[in-house]
Amino acid sequence: MKEQMKIDYANWIPAKLPRTLGVTGAVFTLLFMLSFLLPGSIPILILRVLLTAAAIMMWLFFAYMAYARRLLSYEGGGVQSKILDNVLRYLDWEGNGTLLDIGCGSGALTIKAAKKYPEANCVGMDYWGAIWDYAQSQCETNARLEGVADRTSFQKGDAAHLDFTDGHFDAAVSNFVFHEVGSQPDKLKLIQEALRILKPGAPFAFEDIFYSPRSYPDLDALIQALSKEVTEIHFVDTRQNDFVPKFLRTPFVAGEMGLICGRK
Ligand SMILES: C[S@@+](CC[C@H](N)C(=O)[O-])C[C@H]1O[C@@H](n2cnc3c(N)ncnc32)[C@H](O)[C@@H]1O
Repeated sequence: MKEQMKIDYANWIPAKLPRTLGVTGAVFTLLFMLSFLLPGSIPILILRVLLTAAAIMMWLFFAYMAYARRLLSYEGGGVQSKILDNVLRYLDWEGNGTLLDIGCGSGALTIKAAKKYPEANCVGMDYWGAIWDYAQSQCETNARLEGVADRTSFQKGDAAHLDFTDGHFDAAVSNFVFHEVGSQPDKLKLIQEALRILKPGAPFAFEDIFYSPRSYPDLDALIQALSKEVTEIHFVDTRQNDFVPKFLRTPFVAGEMGLICGRK
């Protein structure tokens, strides 16, 4: 494996997605052009219409994803970084003790927390599966390059069954993870597990696609149930932040995000 020399938080839209859409669009366009080698008939005409529609859809989706990726990127619009900064803004914490970042990915939020709270120790956990191009070594290198390696640590695990005792942490954060946790389809139980590892009164800020009816069919019921278990809870519609361009407020990127914060 090539050694990582630069800070690399990776993009939430992996490069392979626009690439795949572009290649698929090109294949449909080519098939459309090849269809003119066939003798004209009604079925061929229907085939050309279908190929045209498929090619246009693929090219439009390609253009959307490529530009969205640019807006999210650290070198481009920086929206990804701003979304993570905003999660920490909703964490009402003095920064004394240890914080857990659940599903830390490339370590971006864990490292931001370590930089924001110079007295804190920050732990990032993730299962680093095949879907995302993230790795524990990438988190550790990012932390070293950002100068916070001495106060950060990263470990493999499953968000549905955290490898920590009850009340172990002084704060917890998570961003865009819960909807992905296949090992626990019941999102209430998943968030209860995240709360389990917090000390009584400890703050939390969890962002996810809470407005997605697929992942959270009854958001009100979820918040109602959680409110019985914590001393303080708020729900924030983070889609409305002005640092999230309207272009990104679609279900494909940031159009379904919301944040639950409060104190255990
Ligand atoms: C959209 S990424 C977000 C990463 C990071 N929180 C961020 O904001 O950059 C989703 C992350 O959830 C992690 N994940 C998915 N299922 C998980 C599980 N069961 N336990 C721990 N992490 C999980 C993935 O590996 C991936 O890193």
